[in-house]
Amino acid sequence: MHSQAPMMRENALKGKTIVVTGGGTGLGKSMATCYAKLGANLVITGRRKEVLDSAAAEIADLTKAEVLPVSCDVRSESDVENLVRATGEKFGKADGLLNNAAGNFISPTERLSTKAFSVIIDIVLKGTINCTMAFGKQWIENKTPGTVLNIVTTYASTGSGYVVPSACAKAGVLAMTRSLAVEWAKYNIRFNAIAPGPFPTKGAWDRLVPEPLKDKISMERRIPLGRTGRHEELADLAAYLISDYSAYINGEVVTIDGGEWLKGAGQFNQLEAVPEPMWDVIEQTIRGKKGGN
Ligand code: HXC
Ligand code: NAP
Repeated sequence: MHSQAPMMRENALKGKTIVVTGGGTGLGKSMATCYAKLGANLVITGRRKEVLDSAAAEIADLTKAEVLPVSCDVRSESDVENLVRATGEKFGKADGLLNNAAGNFISPTERLSTKAFSVIIDIVLKGTINCTMAFGKQWIENKTPGTVLNIVTTYASTGSGYVVPSACAKAGVLAMTRSLAVEWAKYNIRFNAIAPGPFPTKGAWDRLVPEPLKDKISMERRIPLGRTGRHEELADLAAYLISDYSAYINGEVVTIDGGEWLKGAGQFNQLEAVPEPMWDVIEQTIRGKKGGN
């Protein structure tokens, strides 16, 4: 949950209505809370009505914003149509859509059934497409501007083993972001994405760092800055990118991961494990080499 004052100025999102999919838990709830603190009207969605109702009440209580919880499975066309309708009835129209809902779990890919692959692709890729198409078509028809912000991951670009359905789906979302950023700019609809590194949430940790792996995987050790992300750091970025202050940013993906993916990519980065005194020996050994043999 976003616990401190947002980076942006007070009322920076006043008068805007923002729809946050998966807004009842985790990072979606934190970003939604930040939007509400900045004066936006909120619509939060997810499948579990009781989770949404309680998050909506909590956010409204904290921020005094208007928060509409709408249960909606992003895989269902009729649920998404109902989401657009409910948003219009309550607030007139949406100004921004944060596609954040996702499903994921770790598994060796050869253990996955077709259904296991599909369940993730359907939520992450098709769910994002369903919401984007529904709100996008309305914006186009009514000639109103819109902003779409998609939450992807760093492995949308790099790929990653053991989360292959998620990697394929997030890569698709990134491709959609860049494609529609160009195609729908003529309608005044902007698209951007955020690629977060590890940010602790129950939803992600239960599925990606389950109990038997807890002692074997250290997220912190993978990250040059030595820590996982704070929800408010992501929320501040998400507020900027959904706001009109970022009006000239279109088709961009912003990584917020403490340098994690680059650490994995740089060929010699593992040399940080070399103890300081050993560098004297290494240097002498290298300097001792003459010629190219
Ligand atoms: C192998 C699995 C499996 C597992 C499910 N399946 N879990 N296969 N290993 N651990 C298979 C099932 O056997 C079934 O196939 C198929 O997947 C569908 O499973 P269901 O249980 O019927 O589906 P459902 O209950 O809808 O579950 C969907 C879910 C669930 C995605 C699996 O976890 C969910 O609802 N998650 C939502 C929240 C979430 O995942 N949050 C994390 C986002 S984190 P068969 O063929 O057997 O019927 C994230 C972070 C990225 O994205 C980067 C982090 C750094
Ligand atoms: P989370 O709390 O599990 O969030 C997932 C949300 O999606 C839940 O609110 C869930 O609500 C909703 N959802 C799942 N399936 C849905 C469906 N079919 N229809 C509608 N809503 C659905 O996990 P999180 O960590 O906050 O993840 C949020 C986003 O950040 C995801 O896009 C994830 O890929 C991304 N991300 C997270 C991390 C991280 O380290 N946490 C890193 C990179 C990217 P219901 O279950 O009630 O439907």
